[in-house]
Amino acid sequence: MVKLVIPPSSPPYTHFFEIIREMVESQIAVTMEKTGKSRDVVCKDVLKHYQRMSGQWTCGRKPQIAYHDPICRTAYLYGIVPAFANLVEYVFRRDTELATHFLKVHRGKGKVSICAFGGGPGTELLGVAKWVEKNTKPGEQVSIEYLLLDKVNEWLESWRAIKNAIESRFRKNISRFRKDWPLVLSGDFSKIDITDTSGFGNLGSLFEQDIFVLSYVVSEVFSEVEELTEFSTEVANNAPIGSKFVFIDRAGDTWKNDVTRLAKNAGLRLSAFRETKTNMDTDEESSHLGSLIHDIGWNPKLTWNAFWVVGTKE
Ligand SMILES: C[S@@+](CC[C@H](N)C(=O)[O-])C[C@H]1O[C@@H](n2cnc3c(N)ncnc32)[C@H](O)[C@@H]1O
Repeated sequence: MVKLVIPPSSPPYTHFFEIIREMVESQIAVTMEKTGKSRDVVCKDVLKHYQRMSGQWTCGRKPQIAYHDPICRTAYLYGIVPAFANLVEYVFRRDTELATHFLKVHRGKGKVSICAFGGGPGTELLGVAKWVEKNTKPGEQVSIEYLLLDKVNEWLESWRAIKNAIESRFRKNISRFRKDWPLVLSGDFSKIDITDTSGFGNLGSLFEQDIFVLSYVVSEVFSEVEELTEFSTEVANNAPIGSKFVFIDRAGDTWKNDVTRLAKNAGLRLSAFRETKTNMDTDEESSHLGSLIHDIGWNPKLTWNAFWVVGTKE
């Protein structure tokens, strides 16, 4: 059994709220400049989108969320990403089968490829980056090739900003040379509708990935889960034997049943479902958001009530 070692002096340098603050502040400044609106008005717009979005996730129908709108994406970054990134990190920390797979692949190939379905702004990358940082011994380096699939092309900008923010922290705090960093990242974004297999013929080779993550995606596609199942089955057919599919989603039997059906159709062996209902880690402080909490007038999400389960391609 591979044992994860957490060095006592491990920093980490990736802090979700700090990174999100920079991204949200920059988006607010751009919006003010483009629209001539005051900071106060832009922050109120962010709040409106945040509240509307939260309402959509609990309305019992397929959520209608205006991700193409930059203010909506800003609201998602502010309100949701830190907690969900922490949850991804938590899953990698708590799931020994997943962590062992990651380390085994890395030992064999010198890199791990991760594909996020409906990855939005790159939440999963943030979570995995912090997990890697916390678990890499001094002098070791982990390489990740990251592929983000989402039907909203505009997320490209956010995922690049997240990647740059992680790297600029390493550059500032560790060394200007990549060889000294605990983690090196390369990545791609592809605009893909994961409920549509019509263009799949050209994509097969894209799916030679070691780990696939579907974080808050099954509940998001909602009634289109049959179509997502078709897409996932095609992906699984092209995925390497032993690759892992990590499903993370809001608590609820509906989503668990959907995941169970999807895995069965795709030929994935599922681990046991694990539940988690807790707060973000204590090394994450929402005070790192600076004046944003006051200006937006609403706290970001700081807890989750979710499950995760890991499927293995056999
Ligand atoms: C709740 S967000 C989750 C984002 C990210 N995985 C996370 O954990 O923060 C759902 C994401 O699924 C994407 N999405 C929804 N339907 C999709 C589809 N049919 N094809 C691809 N992406 C989709 C949305 O654009 C959004 O980025």
